[in-house]
Amino acid sequence: MEMKKIIVAIDGPASSGKSTTAKQLAKKLNCIYVDSGAMYRAVALYLLQNKIDFTEKKLLRKAMSEINIEIIPSKLKYENTIILNGEDVTKKIREPEITNYSSTIATNGLIRKRMVELQRKMAEIQSIVMDGRDIGTVVFPNADFKFFLIASIEERSKRRWLENQNKGLSSKTFDEIKEELAFRDKTDSTREISPLKKAVDAIEIDTTNLNIQQQVEKIYGIINEIFL
Ligand code: DC
Repeated sequence: MEMKKIIVAIDGPASSGKSTTAKQLAKKLNCIYVDSGAMYRAVALYLLQNKIDFTEKKLLRKAMSEINIEIIPSKLKYENTIILNGEDVTKKIREPEITNYSSTIATNGLIRKRMVELQRKMAEIQSIVMDGRDIGTVVFPNADFKFFLIASIEERSKRRWLENQNKGLSSKTFDEIKEELAFRDKTDSTREISPLKKAVDAIEIDTTNLNIQQQVEKIYGIINEIFL
């Protein structure tokens, strides 16, 4: 049976389980997954690499006209490959320096405008599950489904710490991770333009005591009941 086009927006703070949930949900819905945070990360990498002060309007405008970001979703692995001016930066944009700086540059209106244009374009012709901070509020205010994932900062820090351990990146202590998450929470939710916040019509899901499978089942269950 041919499924009608669907747009699912998943927002929430860092490490609330958005991306893992979104990937598995996309797989179940047989559509693509787009990680909008990766785009802000790519911009942060470009600005750092080229030593561009994003608060200098002229310099930023020039930089934005030179930046070419391609986000290539794979329906096979539900991963995104990120190409910045022809270079595959998928791994580089996960470095800690980029993680924190992406939150800082994402406060800028010009950068956001460009990213939102790219994000909307991706959904023109295909069904999509996109995660981020402003997907339900700004990017797709008419999304078919909007979910807002939350979890306590303790739980999110624990998840990030465990993730680092598993990846062999064990240099950061639990408290350092918690501090960085608190910094990003604050920067992302207090910025003037498109702050992280729950859309009025979004369904809030507290993942503190849920595992990934439970989160996915919960969200898929809601979509299945209403849409499929
Ligand atoms: O999802 P992430 O942690 O990879 O995102 C990195 C940063 O990008 C995040 O701290 C804030 C910014 N971001 C945003 O402002 N809007 C989005 N839709 C996605 C990410």
